[in-house]
Amino acid sequence: MALLEVRDLSVKFDTPDGTVTAVDGISFDLNAGETLGVVGESGSGKSQTVFAMMGLLAQNGNATGSVKLDGQEILNLPLTQLNKIRAEKIAMIFQDPMTCLNPYLKVSDQMAEVLTHHHGLSKSDAVKRSVDLLDAVRIPEAKKRINMYPHEFSGGMRQRVMIAMSLLCKPDVLIADEPTTALDVTVQAQIMDLMSDLQKEFNMAIVLITHDLGVVAGSCKETLVMYGGQQMEYGTTEGLFEMPTHPYTMGLLKAVPRLDVESAKLATIPGSPPNMMNMPKGCPFAPRCDFADATCFERRPTLDGVAGRKVRRRACLKSLEELA
Ligand SMILES: Nc1ncnc2c1ncn2[C@@H]1O[C@H](COP(=O)(O)OP(=O)(O)O)[C@@H](O)[C@H]1O
Ligand SMILES: [Mg+2]
Repeated sequence: MALLEVRDLSVKFDTPDGTVTAVDGISFDLNAGETLGVVGESGSGKSQTVFAMMGLLAQNGNATGSVKLDGQEILNLPLTQLNKIRAEKIAMIFQDPMTCLNPYLKVSDQMAEVLTHHHGLSKSDAVKRSVDLLDAVRIPEAKKRINMYPHEFSGGMRQRVMIAMSLLCKPDVLIADEPTTALDVTVQAQIMDLMSDLQKEFNMAIVLITHDLGVVAGSCKETLVMYGGQQMEYGTTEGLFEMPTHPYTMGLLKAVPRLDVESAKLATIPGSPPNMMNMPKGCPFAPRCDFADATCFERRPTLDGVAGRKVRRRACLKSLEELA
C-alpha cells in the first residue's frame, strides 16, 4: 500500500454559466520519501487536484473519487477531522508565501501559535522549536530573525519561512504548488536543494507541481502530465524524458530550453487549451496534436499501460518516435 493513494479524483465547479470540469479522473500513488512531479500548462487542473486533496476547494467546487493517506480516506472529511490531519500529516506550500503568512504578525508568533495550539507546547518551547526549524531551512541568524515580520524577509527567505512553517507538523506528505516559480533562477535552485535535503531528513513524500520540466528532471522519481484536467501520461520521469509516449508530453519536452543549443528559445505548443466548461467529446489535445485523426475527435482515449506507464492516447499510435 502506498502512503498516498489517489483514485479517480475529479473536481467540478458550479458556475452561473454551467459546470466546469477542472479535474477529470486523476489517479496516482506516492510512497514515503519519494517525489511526484505534476506538470502541465496553466489551467490544466494541477492546483485544483491538490486543493481537493487538502480540502481547500472554493465554495462552488465539489470533489469525487478517493484520496487515501496511510489507508485513511481523507477526501471530503468534515473540517474538524481535516484540520487534525492538516496539523499532523499533510502540509502545503504555495507559490506566494503571503497566502499563508500573516503580514501583521511576527514570524515567531505565527510559528509558535501552530505548536502551542495544535501540539500543546509551552510558548518558550514552541519558539525554541521554531528557531530550530528556521535553522533547518538555513535562515541565517534565525534566533534574531524570528522576531521579524514577513515583509522584512526577501522573497527567497520568505519561501524558506513558509517551508519551515509547513514542517512544524512534521508532515508525512508535503504538497508544493509551484514553490519556486516566483523566484529567480539561483534562488530556485537553492530552494529545490533545500527541499530535497529536508525530504531526506524528514522522510517526506512530496507532490511537486511545476511547469518547469528542468525541476521535474532534477527531483521527481515519477511524473504525471496533465492536460485539460485529465492525466495524459504518468510514469517514471526517466522513462518520460527518454521516450515520451503521448504527443502532449512530446510537445512539452520540445518546449524545454536546451543548454546544448545556442538559441535556447522556448518553443511553445501552438494552439490553446480546451474550454473546461465545454470539454470536447474526443481527446482534449486533438485540436493541437500533430498525430490526430478523425477518431481522436470522436472518442476519448482510455488510460492504458504503454511502455511501463499509464498513457491516455489512441492504442493505434504504437510508436510515436517512428512518426516523429
Ligand atoms: N472557483 C472556481 N470556479 C470555477 N472554475 C474554477 C474555480 N477555481 C478554478 N477553476 C478552474 O479550474 C481550472 C483548473 O485550474 P487550476 O487547477 O488552478 O490550474 P493550474 O493549477 O493547472 O494552472 C481552470 O480552468 C480554472 O478556471
Ligand atoms: Mg496552479
